[in-house]
Amino acid sequence: MKRTEITPVPVLYQEEVPMTEPDRQAYFITLLADWMKHEIERLQRPMTYHVQTFGCQMNAKDSEKLAGILEAIGYVEADTEEADFVLYNTCTVRENANSRVYGRIGYLGKLKQKNTNMRIAMCGCMMQETHVIDKLKKSYRFVDVVFGTHNIYMLAELLYQNISTRKSVFDIKEKAEKIVEDLPSSLKYSFKAGVNIMYGCNNFCSYCIVPYVRGRERSRAPKDIINEITELTEHGVVEIMLLGQNVNSYGKTLEEPISFAKLLQMIEKIEKLKRIRFMTPHPKDLSDELIDTIKNSAKICKQLHLPLQSGSTRILEKMNRKYTKEDYLTLVEKAKAAIPEISFTTDIIVGFPGETEEDFNDTIDVIEKVGFASAYTFQYSKRTGTAAATMSGQISPAVVEQRFSRLLSVVQNTAEQQAKKSLGKTQEVLVEELNIQTSGYVTGRLSNNLLVHFPGGKEDIGHIKMVTLKECKGFYYMGEAE
Ligand code: SAH
Ligand code: SF4
Ligand code: F3S
Repeated sequence: MKRTEITPVPVLYQEEVPMTEPDRQAYFITLLADWMKHEIERLQRPMTYHVQTFGCQMNAKDSEKLAGILEAIGYVEADTEEADFVLYNTCTVRENANSRVYGRIGYLGKLKQKNTNMRIAMCGCMMQETHVIDKLKKSYRFVDVVFGTHNIYMLAELLYQNISTRKSVFDIKEKAEKIVEDLPSSLKYSFKAGVNIMYGCNNFCSYCIVPYVRGRERSRAPKDIINEITELTEHGVVEIMLLGQNVNSYGKTLEEPISFAKLLQMIEKIEKLKRIRFMTPHPKDLSDELIDTIKNSAKICKQLHLPLQSGSTRILEKMNRKYTKEDYLTLVEKAKAAIPEISFTTDIIVGFPGETEEDFNDTIDVIEKVGFASAYTFQYSKRTGTAAATMSGQISPAVVEQRFSRLLSVVQNTAEQQAKKSLGKTQEVLVEELNIQTSGYVTGRLSNNLLVHFPGGKEDIGHIKMVTLKECKGFYYMGEAE
């Protein structure tokens, strides 16, 4: 079938298009939903979409919003990229995240040759970089719609433009203009959800591209957050993960400033909510008020993801992290003293420019002293435009590899030691899914985020059970429900 035969989109009367959001997008969704009905008739089948997410939980959350818009238009989700609308929500935090995307765009081009109804879209952090846009325009001309991190809410409008003009649409905003509330969203799980509390980052850690591609810090109004969570709990959600690049700075730029701890105290009051998680707090401004709030809460999980990055004060300074090795250790001690059952997880970068063996040993020392329950470990990746990219003393790949494998074994050791500590205890577990390997078993998460497998059935999914941890398998447990 030729491309020219597709249904034209309904004509748009400029004077009818609402100027304010979210009404404007709702208008485009309606136009496209109308178009979709005709397309389904023409094709004699549903039209499908596939959103592929790269990167962190912010991107995963954005993807739920994008999927919500596509579903409101009438697209049905497909498991693979063999779909009528494929969207890559990209990440650029490390070079390998970036190359994975390029590797796959070529494959999408081939799929498009087979399905003339297919549209390809790219969004997310990579798209905020000019060299990426240049490359797409030059080498991947079959991509239909491209937008960045600041205008994901505009998907319907951009898709409308693409269909009506039959030309590729590029719309990258330099800066975030506004926070758009009340757009449709499609939840990945029925019982747990991520909730943005703020966007962007002002910290400019010297290795990190995020502030450049996500813009400056903006906090959502407390009432919007509370309303969203309350609504989610009405639909069965019992656990939420509050999302922000530095949640400790939440609320500082609001008209009526409020602290993150105060926000948590407000969220705690939402009756049907059972568990609260958050990420990521920055060690430099983790307040006593926050430690107290966690201590006194019945719902906040007693687990802190507290990115260390390096244990060396010298490297931390070059990283612009604004804390020392001692500050970090003192903070951990303070939290442990207030909340004895607390567990810590972290992020660590190996091979930052100028890192000596002595610096690296400091990192190992902190890991052993804190006893992390788990750690995301990364090899330093040079990001063009960041301060660290031009620093002298870039470390050779061989040295990085060697330190990285030592790091992994130390982390594995401390993680196993921590996991063993809970053996024999009876704890709350939120059941997430049927166990894939063993029938008659379910898999759930402890407050500290570790997985437990235990006998159970479909009816347990989304519920909290008291489970005794019978056997520790390193990073997960086998248990038995009460
Ligand atoms: N805002 C969060 C995390 C953002 S990115 C925080 O401050 O902790 C997630 C992790 O990616 C970071 O914690 C860091 O460990 C890692 N990371 C960021 N930039 C990196 C780079 N250039 N090379 C290697 N790892 C990096
Ligand atoms: Fe990146 Fe640092 Fe901001 Fe985290 S706090 S997003 S590591 S600049
Ligand atoms: Fe990647 Fe963007 Fe997150 S660069 S880590 S997806 S904020």
